Amino acid sequence: MIKAQQIHKSYGDLHVLKGVDLHIKKGEIVSIVGASGAGKTTLLQILGTLDLIDESSDSMLSINDTTITTLNQKQLAKFRNEELGFIFQFHQLLPEFTALENVCLPAFIKKTSKNAAEKRAKELLDFLGLSHRYHHKPNALSGGEQQRVAVARALINNPKVIFADEPSGNLDSEAASNLHKLFFDLRDQFGQTFVIVTHNNELANMADRKLVMVDGTIIS
Ligand SMILES: Nc1ncnc2c1ncn2[C@@H]1O[C@H](COP(=O)(O)OP(=O)(O)OP(=O)(O)O)[C@@H](O)[C@H]1O
Ligand SMILES: [Mg+2]
Repeated sequence: MIKAQQIHKSYGDLHVLKGVDLHIKKGEIVSIVGASGAGKTTLLQILGTLDLIDESSDSMLSINDTTITTLNQKQLAKFRNEELGFIFQFHQLLPEFTALENVCLPAFIKKTSKNAAEKRAKELLDFLGLSHRYHHKPNALSGGEQQRVAVARALINNPKVIFADEPSGNLDSEAASNLHKLFFDLRDQFGQTFVIVTHNNELANMADRKLVMVDGTIIS
């Protein structure tokens, strides 16, 4: 599902990613761990097409058989909206919109009709135990509820791959464990591929495969 070869990334003089190679299969849940500053978020942003790879002849990134480096801005935005889902440490919900509206936004961007988007959003919110929270705004939801709304938003367009950066970093241990269980349930139900950066050992070890990043490279 994801093939990356010789990924390098520098910010000015700082060489952050030093030739990352990885191959992630469809339906696999892969965790990425490593010390602060090792380059985990940078790698996730690059795999998620949110940041650009340093130009070099031997680097390559393909997701679901699409070679990312050949897409123009508009094609890339469409690909990201339709094929990828993102869950961040801080949920990044829009405060002025309700849970339901937040979940629908990526579907509206994809030009899904209002009815179809709301139907799918409600199914997801129900699946996530939020049937009674459709019309609450984020500040009227608990941290765990907000995070689940963000998960529903990440899933609404049925993405092939979900990228999560410290998804449970902001949750108590019970909410974190529920969220982790949810990722596995989703994979089992919908066959999605997950790439999860985490400092949470339990989550990292539950994954099918744990990659360790040290100083801009993957060592295992
Ligand atoms: N936009 C940027 N401009 C300059 N330097 C950056 C930028 N983003 C990240 N860095 C630097 O790149 C290095 C790797 O950062 P990154 O965020 O990938 O680390 P991380 O492994 O995710 O760490 P953490 O566990 O603390 O989140 C750090 O030294 C960081 O300061
Ligand atoms: Mg990080």
